[in-house]
Amino acid sequence: MPRKDIILAIETSCDETATAVLSGGQELLSNIIASQIDVHKRFGGVVPEIASRHHLEQVNRLIDLAMLEARISFSDLSAIAVTYGPGLVGALLVGVSTAKALAYSLGLPLVGINHIEGHIFANWLVHEDIEFPLICLIVSGGHTALVLMKDYGKYELLGQTQDDAVGEAYDKVARAMGLGYPGGPVIDKLAHEGDPKAIHLPRAWLSKDSFDFSFSGLKTAVLNYLNNTAQKGEEINKENLAAAFQTSVVEVLIEKTIKAAHKSRIKTVLLAGGVAANSLLRTQLQERCDNEGLQLFYPPLKYCTDNAAMIASAGYYRFRQRDLAGWNLNAVPNLKLF
Ligand code: KG4
Ligand code: ZN
Repeated sequence: MPRKDIILAIETSCDETATAVLSGGQELLSNIIASQIDVHKRFGGVVPEIASRHHLEQVNRLIDLAMLEARISFSDLSAIAVTYGPGLVGALLVGVSTAKALAYSLGLPLVGINHIEGHIFANWLVHEDIEFPLICLIVSGGHTALVLMKDYGKYELLGQTQDDAVGEAYDKVARAMGLGYPGGPVIDKLAHEGDPKAIHLPRAWLSKDSFDFSFSGLKTAVLNYLNNTAQKGEEINKENLAAAFQTSVVEVLIEKTIKAAHKSRIKTVLLAGGVAANSLLRTQLQERCDNEGLQLFYPPLKYCTDNAAMIASAGYYRFRQRDLAGWNLNAVPNLKLF
């Protein structure tokens, strides 16, 4: 039997230092994450300089841990994959320079990965049978986009946010409601106990056939609601507000995704990014896809938010296509995928 390709991956684009070892595309030998959320929480968001310092302190230890847990030696590796953008420049540089030094000293190929492609490839860690072409809804802290994917690495942008990313809207609304950072999981949890119809919030459909999104109007509507309620000296029902906000977001995301699939005559839908962890989005999109005869794939919760397993997965497919990076690989904070 031919030897399986084994990838060591490093992810340091934002506030998680992560490493993973993946064998043959689906056998995850280790997956280590050191989250900095507690460090940044008290500032209400990620502080770039602090993030870089923490990555620097953690990255070598996490590589050793990933290798130890995988029970392999460096000579067993086929390649090293690293996120080189988009993200915070100082944070990305820690991963990129570490990966370059390691790959060069071990004589291993280097694979540069776009973080968003990593989120998409989180799906391949657990699903072998994903067929192209497909429609991918990318919903993360920095991106919101509908993409037509015709093959590995082939992306066609159908629409994207004109202002805030959906995760960003969650985080800003949560901050205004005094719920802390990150906002997504807290709002998701609160929304379960609220009545989404108790407060009316707008839906940004934009023009009739548009696959673009906009979440800043919704965010402003929540801020206005908070101000008006405070001015009247009334109590805010946080559960109802969370439920109304979440329903407004999810409704638009789902309608546009289904419409994009039908318009392109595509039968497969993929969900990717941190907001793919959202419980309402997962259940309602699943329901709609079932009703519409579409097959939906989404990653398990643990692979939705930032991790290095997804970078290893994307790295595995890029390595198989021999799409390798040169020693001049650099951090690209605004790296584009489509
Ligand atoms: O994909 P990700 O790690 O960020 C980027 O790569 O940009 O996702 C982080 C985002 C945060 O904005 C967080 O609030 C959101 O994902 N998030 C959620 C949930 N879990 C995380 N949003 C809604 N519902 C959730 N359950
Ligand atoms: Zn991410």
